[in-house]
Amino acid sequence: MKSKSFIAFFILSTTLLFLYISHKTPLPTTTAAAAIPDLKIRPGYTTYESYIHHQLNKTLNPKLREIWKTRDWDRKIRVFAGFFGDLKQKNLLSNSSKALSVGARMGQEVEALKRVGVSDSIGLDLVPSSPLVVRGDFHHQPFDDGSFDFEFSNVFDHALYPEKFVGEIERTLRPGGVCVLHVALKRRSDKYSANDLFSVEPLKKLFKRSELVHVRPVDGFGLDTEVVFRRKPVTRAL
Ligand SMILES: C[S@@+](CC[C@H](N)C(=O)[O-])C[C@H]1O[C@@H](n2cnc3c(N)ncnc32)[C@H](O)[C@@H]1O
Ligand SMILES: *[C@@H]1O[C@H](CO)[C@@H](O)[C@H](O)[C@H]1NC(C)=O
Ligand SMILES: *[C@@H]1O[C@H](CO)[C@@H](O)[C@H](O)[C@H]1NC(C)=O
Repeated sequence: MKSKSFIAFFILSTTLLFLYISHKTPLPTTTAAAAIPDLKIRPGYTTYESYIHHQLNKTLNPKLREIWKTRDWDRKIRVFAGFFGDLKQKNLLSNSSKALSVGARMGQEVEALKRVGVSDSIGLDLVPSSPLVVRGDFHHQPFDDGSFDFEFSNVFDHALYPEKFVGEIERTLRPGGVCVLHVALKRRSDKYSANDLFSVEPLKKLFKRSELVHVRPVDGFGLDTEVVFRRKPVTRAL
């Protein structure tokens, strides 16, 4: 009897220990992207939960949300509308494009897309902001393959797994679809960033299924460089 209850105790306690450890989900110390020169993953995120928690800390701040909705609202929409107007002139975006903005927070960039005539536009963020922004993690976009003609994002620096961030954009873009990133190369972004990018080379490596369209300087809320990729047509394996 004694040994039976000992075995039961042993099984229960190891199960609990396993559950405890797996709940903590330790992050791999090296990721594929960590090996890419000119792209550094910031240390300090010990679990995926702690990364998400840190991102939410700013996005959920009620005082900031009030400012973003009021003082910042029109000012940011005007700047974004300028960017999207330029992209329309370059035929990288049109009124009939189905467009997604990744990491859109309150949705100014989505409103800007609509104002320049791209009516079928939606945003994605950890925190939804109805009706412009739906909830979701950009490391696992809640959309089917080939859902969009155009994706914009100015939050590459918030990606803990840049290869997933880019892989998900390439998955949800249709072949021929366009991705526009605004990134900071010259200055370091804020304490909510999860990586630091020092040139466009890592992006060229990460966008495996796309070709580079252009790189040009922009002045976009602390982000200095626009990088545009076009998803390649699907090639059939022989
Ligand atoms: C610097 S803000 C950019 C907001 C917006 N694009 C703008 O320019 O106004 C970064 C945003 O990325 C979001 N974010 C961070 N990590 C994310 C993730 N894993 N999935 C989806 N959104 C994320 C944050 O919630 C935040 O709203
Ligand atoms: C964000 O973090 C600060 C400091 O740790 C804390 O006081 C605040 O309550 C947090 N806010 C949210 C929305 O989590
Ligand atoms: C696109 O939409 C805008 C805004 O509604 C409109 O002014 C413009 O004429 C449209 N462009 C085309 C090519 O239909």
